[in-house]
Amino acid sequence: MARRQEARGATAAPAGSSTLWYKDAIIYEVHVRTFYDSDGDGYGDFRGLTEKLDYLQDLGVTALWVLPFYPSPWVDDGYDVADYTDVHPAYGTLRDFKRFLAEAHRRGIRVITDLVLNHTSDQHPWFQRARRARPGSRWRDFYVWSDTPDRYRQVRVIFQDFEPSNWTWDPVAGAYYWHRFYKHQPDLNYDNPLVWKAMFRVVDFWMKLGVDGFRLDAVPYLFEREGTSCAGLPETHEFIRALRSHIEERYGERILLAEANEPAAELARYLQGDECHMAFHFPLMPRLYLALHREDREPIAAVLRDEPAIAPTSQWALFLRNHDELSLEMVTPEEREELWQAYAPDPQARINLGIRRRLAPLLGNDRRRIELMNALLFSLPGTPVIYYGDEIGMGDNIYLPDRHGVRTPMQWSADRNAGFSRANPQRLCAPVVVDPPFHYEAVNVEAQLASPDSLLNWMKRLIAVRKRYKAFGRGTCELLDADNRHILAFTRRYGDETVLVVANLSRFVQGVRLNLSTYRGRVPVDLFGRSTLPPVGDDPYFLTLGPHGFYWFALEPGPVSG
Ligand code: GLC
Repeated sequence: MARRQEARGATAAPAGSSTLWYKDAIIYEVHVRTFYDSDGDGYGDFRGLTEKLDYLQDLGVTALWVLPFYPSPWVDDGYDVADYTDVHPAYGTLRDFKRFLAEAHRRGIRVITDLVLNHTSDQHPWFQRARRARPGSRWRDFYVWSDTPDRYRQVRVIFQDFEPSNWTWDPVAGAYYWHRFYKHQPDLNYDNPLVWKAMFRVVDFWMKLGVDGFRLDAVPYLFEREGTSCAGLPETHEFIRALRSHIEERYGERILLAEANEPAAELARYLQGDECHMAFHFPLMPRLYLALHREDREPIAAVLRDEPAIAPTSQWALFLRNHDELSLEMVTPEEREELWQAYAPDPQARINLGIRRRLAPLLGNDRRRIELMNALLFSLPGTPVIYYGDEIGMGDNIYLPDRHGVRTPMQWSADRNAGFSRANPQRLCAPVVVDPPFHYEAVNVEAQLASPDSLLNWMKRLIAVRKRYKAFGRGTCELLDADNRHILAFTRRYGDETVLVVANLSRFVQGVRLNLSTYRGRVPVDLFGRSTLPPVGDDPYFLTLGPHGFYWFALEPGPVSG
């Protein structure tokens, strides 16, 4: 950081200025394949995504995180990259990508792409060359090899439903290779300087095209060392620091977003100002569901109380769902069991250490609970990330393999194929959802745009309100003393803005007394309807909330009396 400020002198962005754009962003995670098919081949493509940018702009999102779209055999849906600097032919061409990027930027929407650093596809030419290269040569050493499967024994297997070991025998090489994910995804060897060079070239390629940042996929696992968990090693942090300065020196305000499914203290190490700008808050996410299930604020309050310090320029990325299973890795085994029982009683809905369901089905398609969880997503400290389709309450299909059940085509209308594609329905990349409560004839963008009270229109209002207050993205967060454990209450403060958030986690009406003594004389103004409540006085402030209700108030200076 210091280096960049020196190097760039007056042009360096002062902390707190609008150049910390990621702090005010509303991020939308999108899968090119399942968003919109422009040419009727059954697969979404960049032209289709470009056509839908107006929809995304209208929704109010300010950044897109685009899932991997590179040439790939799709064993892991594109996270098995076979060529880092091109576009999968099913999605279009590089030209299509460039047009998409330009059109997004024209609408003030930034684009974050996935940078899969840790591994490649086994079809990548680097791996094909490595397995045939002389043992010990620099080409062979692009990957991590061993004569025995006994090294790094203490490292857990992540895809435990699919892989028995992190080592797989390669008959061509006559050796075992290391992989943290599927066996088709050999891990690159970051002890080899040539791998750094090759990856920096990939980084330069996309930065020069103008992408605004990278999500660093599976970033803790870059290095391996005997006797460790091989996650978040000092060497890995050193690499990220080098990556950050490389990008900052050449391209300025682009961002790095860490995907690290780790405890908060570990995550904070990525957020000290010289590594990543953001990291997904994996420990908070399952605790939102736990709090909702227990109707008790404590799981969330505990995370907020113990939040480790991060640099002022860093930010949490908050999410409720994404393209993977809802990961339950960051909770205790007892809590995991409790969450499985509560949210995935059907074993078919479980996968690895998680739940393969979308937001609406997880919440029993209960509009109040969906609104409450989104209200938390949009008001707790961090930048919210919406998963495509969750803004209309899309359903899922737990009978599809792996995590594909949460990656079904976007439901645009009640037309054939949910308006996603004109292809023969049998040709679609994935079947559209026809589960009765979530059927695309009922749950779709067109119908919801036409209905003022739809979830989609509600989400648009939520986003618009959030954007009016910088306190949500940048403010401090203070938990408030509330005499009712069903109620979570906190303030967000930035400059002269103070926002009070009160959320009822229970399915019944609740009353709460809040200690607002610091705000004596202030008037709570509802951020949605602008109605005002009685000013804060000397006594604890009393509020009642309906089942799963929530309030966002601005605490505004009251009229000067006397
Ligand atoms: C990340 C991705 C996931 C992928 C894995 C391996 O966790 O989110 O979809 O399978 O990395 O690349």
